[in-house]
Amino acid sequence: MFTVCTFILLCLAYILTYMYLKKKFQYWQDRNVAFVAPNMILGNLYSLLSLKRSPGHWLMDHYKRFGTNYFGLFAFTKPILVIKSPKIIKDILIKDFSYFDNRTATVSTHDKIMSNMLFTKQNPAWKKVRSKVTPLFSSGKLRLMFTPILAQAEHMVRNVRLLVSCQESIEIKEICTKYSTNVIAKCAFSVDARTFENDKAEFREIGRCLFDSRLENRLRFFAARFLPSLVKSFNIFLVRPTVSETLRNIFTTIFDVRKKSRKSKDNDLIDILLRIEDYHKDDKDFGAESLLGAAVNFFAAGFETVATTMAFVLYELCIAPEIQTKLRDEIASNVEKNRGLVYENMNEMKYLDMVVCETLRKYPVLPFLDRMCNSAYKIPNTDLVVEQGTVVYVPLFGLHYDEIYFPNPEKFIPERFEHKCEINNDGLYYLPFGEGPRNCIGTRFGLMTLKIGIIQMLLNFELKLSANTPIPLIYDPKAIIVSSKVGLPMKVLPLN
Ligand code: HEM
Repeated sequence: MFTVCTFILLCLAYILTYMYLKKKFQYWQDRNVAFVAPNMILGNLYSLLSLKRSPGHWLMDHYKRFGTNYFGLFAFTKPILVIKSPKIIKDILIKDFSYFDNRTATVSTHDKIMSNMLFTKQNPAWKKVRSKVTPLFSSGKLRLMFTPILAQAEHMVRNVRLLVSCQESIEIKEICTKYSTNVIAKCAFSVDARTFENDKAEFREIGRCLFDSRLENRLRFFAARFLPSLVKSFNIFLVRPTVSETLRNIFTTIFDVRKKSRKSKDNDLIDILLRIEDYHKDDKDFGAESLLGAAVNFFAAGFETVATTMAFVLYELCIAPEIQTKLRDEIASNVEKNRGLVYENMNEMKYLDMVVCETLRKYPVLPFLDRMCNSAYKIPNTDLVVEQGTVVYVPLFGLHYDEIYFPNPEKFIPERFEHKCEINNDGLYYLPFGEGPRNCIGTRFGLMTLKIGIIQMLLNFELKLSANTPIPLIYDPKAIIVSSKVGLPMKVLPLN
């Protein structure tokens, strides 16, 4: 008797679950939106979760299947709207930003540092902080940062010279990461990170912890992105609590030291943040945690993005010697003409800009942009009303590899950007730094850092393939931001 009852209950539970899931998965069909048939439990996350595809390629695979302006996906049972149409992307990111003012990752409010980063912070607190820290990247400040960045690039060259005298092939991503870590530490916090002198330097070690792709970290990121209720119920932190604590200690010390020596104004991010704290003593949006979060965000967002892009530039140059020579010639003649590298003349190097733009097209560091719809939004000229709480993705890999916008997309062709002003003329399809009020705040600083780094590398070294340079590139499906699975080793030969 007991077994019959159990059997009936199990059957009932199965039927109810089936009906519940079936109803959930009707979501896009009910709205007449083309969608990818979901797996009953995971929705469309299988190839992502099984590490068959990197996040960018997972979304690009789906992107290629549809000729429509948008399509639907499911993360478990949660609907995601993926936008393909450049015009609609422009509306969502810029014109109708007020409906899409936040990103979608859920960060526990107990996770004080990570929930206070500009990247994860929710509007309107986000807007207040963003407008206050924007002056760090004014033209005047960037000009002042030029000389310290150049000094860091020269320091990198000296260290690479030492390294290549005893190694046949070097891991270029690690060199770029040490350089970009030193730059952000110097320009934002006035700290000498000394990553070349000490492989285990504090800033380098904490940087490794932030982006290390071990299973625990990936699960934390995955939960933040796809399992909001789990994050809230169990207060899951975005990074390991020990890493959070270390970040807190490093940055609290930086703030404390500066508070004691306020007379020597460094005019860096810490100064700007301390001034904000002074002016807004009673505003909790500018409390100590908020300032700490902003400082950590600038560090986290500032070094890995620049290092990744710079490493991919050097990788493409080592594969294409003719592009490398053309770029070196442009740089050398500019430096000769101006008797050195000069801030004002950086923009004269058009080919350098084209090479960087093409690298950011092939390797957008964030595989997609995400926005949360905060109130019902009717997509112009369609019948679709995006409901409040719907997650919206802008698939950067899909767009950047779309034959319509970039013919022969696998090929590295800097000339695509010869007439840069024509790109994104009719909607947005090239978005390495995002767009709209929530775009990358560090764009100009990031570009300046990586261009100075590339210039110094090319003036001093020739880059060549080594036996273990990966061709074709295999993306690391575990990596939090776009990465090669086996690193980017290459030969670096000193020039005289
Ligand atoms: C090559 C270098 C970089 C690339 C490719 C890059 C890319 C991006 C992208 C795609 C976004 C999301 C934009 C959106 O959702 O519309 C973003 C946001 C952000 N980036 Fe960058 N970034 C770079 C360098 C930097 C640097 C150097 C900093 C700071 C020093 C920085 C700070 C930030 C911050 C704080 C945000 C969040 C902005 C907000 O929500 O208000 N990034 N970045």
